[in-house]
Amino acid sequence: MSRFVPRQSDASATARGGRWPRLIPLLALVGVVVLLTGCGPEVAQPYTTITPQNEKTEDIQNLYKITFWASLVVFIGVQAAIAYTALRFRRRNEDRPEQVHGSRKLEIAWTIIPAVILLVLFIPTAQTIFKHAAAAEAEDAFRVDVLGKQWWWEISYPTIPANPDDPGQGPLITANEVILPVGANVVFVLQSNNVIHSFWVPQLSGKTDVMPGHDNRLQFIAEKPGVYWGECAEFCGGSHAWMRFKVKVVPQDEFDAWIAAWRTPPATDGNPDTADVVEAPPAFGACLACHRVSGTNAQIAGQGLPANPGYVEQDGTVVPGPGPNLSLLACRDTIGAGILENTPQNMETWLKRTNEVKEGVYMPNYYDPPEGEGLSDEQIDELVTYLESLKPAEGCPGDNLLVGSEVAPSDVEALDPDQVTGDASP
Ligand code: CUA
Repeated sequence: MSRFVPRQSDASATARGGRWPRLIPLLALVGVVVLLTGCGPEVAQPYTTITPQNEKTEDIQNLYKITFWASLVVFIGVQAAIAYTALRFRRRNEDRPEQVHGSRKLEIAWTIIPAVILLVLFIPTAQTIFKHAAAAEAEDAFRVDVLGKQWWWEISYPTIPANPDDPGQGPLITANEVILPVGANVVFVLQSNNVIHSFWVPQLSGKTDVMPGHDNRLQFIAEKPGVYWGECAEFCGGSHAWMRFKVKVVPQDEFDAWIAAWRTPPATDGNPDTADVVEAPPAFGACLACHRVSGTNAQIAGQGLPANPGYVEQDGTVVPGPGPNLSLLACRDTIGAGILENTPQNMETWLKRTNEVKEGVYMPNYYDPPEGEGLSDEQIDELVTYLESLKPAEGCPGDNLLVGSEVAPSDVEALDPDQVTGDASP
């Protein structure tokens, strides 16, 4: 009995006002939460989920809100109950409080209340899931095929021919930038032949897995012009973090201009009408097996999903590929699916140190291969000039919106293209 005496004096000290200092950490926590809440939508966070930009993400945001408010009610209820119980039944003297065992009322209450809460969460969630699934089956939607590669995205427009006069050339295909006309009801058909990726544009849609052997569909309406950042949201190997992309929603006339520019031969070496890769530097021959350039006869590379991920058979030989379509390459924001800003210096870094810049990339090391049969500095320079000229003579379409939008942050930007360490594998 005597062991309770010091605690009683503690308690009386608390009753005299010593309790308040203990509330300081709690108040600080509340302050931090309020502060963080205040700096939500105002800050430009391209991957944030709390600034929905179309009906689809509004729907998802509404589910968040229901969950948030339900959680808040539960949290406050539980905290209040704990505080009430601790104060109301605190030890006032040496008598033990009444000891009880089991309570039918309580058991029923704490079974029914969570069941009701779950129902409140379940019904709108199920409604939203069915609504979005139905929208993804829309027959009249604008279809875009997205192929998850390691580690980049091939974007294919099956309703837009690469060359209207020659259907055999297949659809318009680009990489890592999804250009969409504003207002389009887009259905993405997501495909992979390697591992599972996940296609995610936080401000325009939820995540949808990109599965080998099964086409998933994802729908959203591109309601407002703008640039929306996306990324792979499923761990898919060494360079998963550098499988970024952008969705660029532009007015219809800019979209049409982009298609026209994509089909136009690049203006190379002051010869704006050339459609012949003979005009390209000879070193570009090393690129032809994997990369196409629309409007030119650089069309031998495969595209789509070959049976062997990252590699393709040509005349019995297995070669790497298919790589990204290089049409309008000079008009893209980044190199390597977001890992480097698209500048001549970074292009040089990319060509010389591909394997170092992006781990596991299928593009071989042409600059410093073990056998010493690589490209020279001069040839790399020529390639950089050529690649950075892959745009129309009159400049990139929709300059204001399509080009120069903020690029992904990268810690490899500072790499010196000439500091090749030699441990890169082909
Ligand atoms: Cu693809 Cu992660």
